Amino acid sequence: MIKITEEILNKILEDAPDTEPERQYYFIEECKNIVDSISEEKGRKLKACINTFGCQMNAKDSEKLLGIMKKIGYEESDSEEADFVLYNTCTVREHANVRVYGRLGVLKNEKDKNPDMIIALCGCMMQEEEVVEKIKKSYRHVDIIFGTHNIYKLAELLFLRLVKNKMQIEILDSAVFTVENLPSKRKHSFKSGVNIMYGCDNFCSYCIVPYVRGRERSRLPKDIIKEVEELSKEGVVEVMLLGQNVNSYGKKFIGDEISDMTFSELLREVEKIDGIKRIRFMTSHPKDLSDDLIETIKNSEKIAKHIHLPLQSGSSRVLKEMNRKYSKEDYLLLAEKIRREIPDVSITTDIIVGFPGETEEDFNETLDVVSKVKFDSAFTFIYSKRTGTKAASNPEQISKEVSQKRFDKLLKLVNDISKEQTKKFEGRTMEVLVEGINPKDSDFLTGRLSNNSVVHFKGDESLIGKIVNVRLDEPCGFYYMGTLD
Ligand code: 5AD
Ligand code: SF4
Repeated sequence: MIKITEEILNKILEDAPDTEPERQYYFIEECKNIVDSISEEKGRKLKACINTFGCQMNAKDSEKLLGIMKKIGYEESDSEEADFVLYNTCTVREHANVRVYGRLGVLKNEKDKNPDMIIALCGCMMQEEEVVEKIKKSYRHVDIIFGTHNIYKLAELLFLRLVKNKMQIEILDSAVFTVENLPSKRKHSFKSGVNIMYGCDNFCSYCIVPYVRGRERSRLPKDIIKEVEELSKEGVVEVMLLGQNVNSYGKKFIGDEISDMTFSELLREVEKIDGIKRIRFMTSHPKDLSDDLIETIKNSEKIAKHIHLPLQSGSSRVLKEMNRKYSKEDYLLLAEKIRREIPDVSITTDIIVGFPGETEEDFNETLDVVSKVKFDSAFTFIYSKRTGTKAASNPEQISKEVSQKRFDKLLKLVNDISKEQTKKFEGRTMEVLVEGINPKDSDFLTGRLSNNSVVHFKGDESLIGKIVNVRLDEPCGFYYMGTLD
């Protein structure tokens, strides 16, 4: 703990700007002064470890959090034997919460060894009241807790923790505003996620996201375009446009300013930016996927031939209960249209088994859709009851045994079909964005096709971040072995 007088502290707080991001840059400087002096005392740089659970949105948030920590003067570390450890949490399924509690237990031992260590928690799980109560009561070694709506305030909260030896908690119910132009440290030099919207208004009956991420709001096209242009100048060649439901982009905006740009129009604007070679997006909701979007992907040189289109269930009855607003037939027609219109496209999906009231017939409908659409890959989940959602109060919860049996059967079908699907490009030469050295064999590079399939091939490190032609010699289930052309 840093000792400063009450008077100095009050002066620092009084002098803090009221506007953002200026206020946070001010606290970054204040933290930096403290961290520099601790570093000097310890004779080494302080280390920060940020662990991300969950989705691409959290990964993007973590880049912003790391950017702030680096500006304060911390060195990035992969190990939790660090001076600052932050868990950016997920709560989409119960399992994610259990993992965080387990790891907090382990961190307690680390903190016993290094009492100066600061442990922080943020993200979706922290937006749940009972979680924060439990941490306050049973995990007293946690120092800072904040949620999804105020990640930009990390420096301010860290400053308060450093000077007031007291747990700092700030959870906001909704986003007051969104702060642009804060530091960020990208994980990859050549690709980056770009938020185009936040939150979700769909209220699928099983899903906690609308409660923890708040109402849907889009970023203005000019802010998105500016960010992508800057990324391109820094050498980024692939951007992933991120939102819970990108197909409804542009319905509501963050501030008072509005725009009438649709998602397809936004994609066409991003496509015009020099230097950007590939554009991905995530996630599409089947109910909002327009013909214009299919046309836009079809006619584009840069937009990846990949649509992640969560099915959730193949039973129209269950889909209605899930509040998904499409039927089995709607989904099948949409998938058929996508495959017909966009050559070489891959369709991937998310599927939940064991939703309350799901019968064997309902489950068979899901298997039927999987067999018909032939997903290139699928994430499969066992339904997890989330407090506060509509489905949680449904009395017809499915037993663990039945869900597990259905899950195993679905997984086998999904895997068999994915394997079959990778055979379709065997022998063809296709463009691969080289992502890095293969971690299992350093003679090989690993990259991705436009359709998101992974390819391993021999090549030199200097190709990382470049798009190269690779012959796909051998489909190996979930990836290809290839040769540089
Ligand atoms: N139980 C299981 N899976 C869920 N998902 C969302 N909420 C739940 C839940 N309560 C899955 C959906 C979604 C993916 C990100 O997580 O399939 O598309
Ligand atoms: Fe959850 Fe549905 Fe929103 Fe996706 S669209 S985040 S599943 S509520």
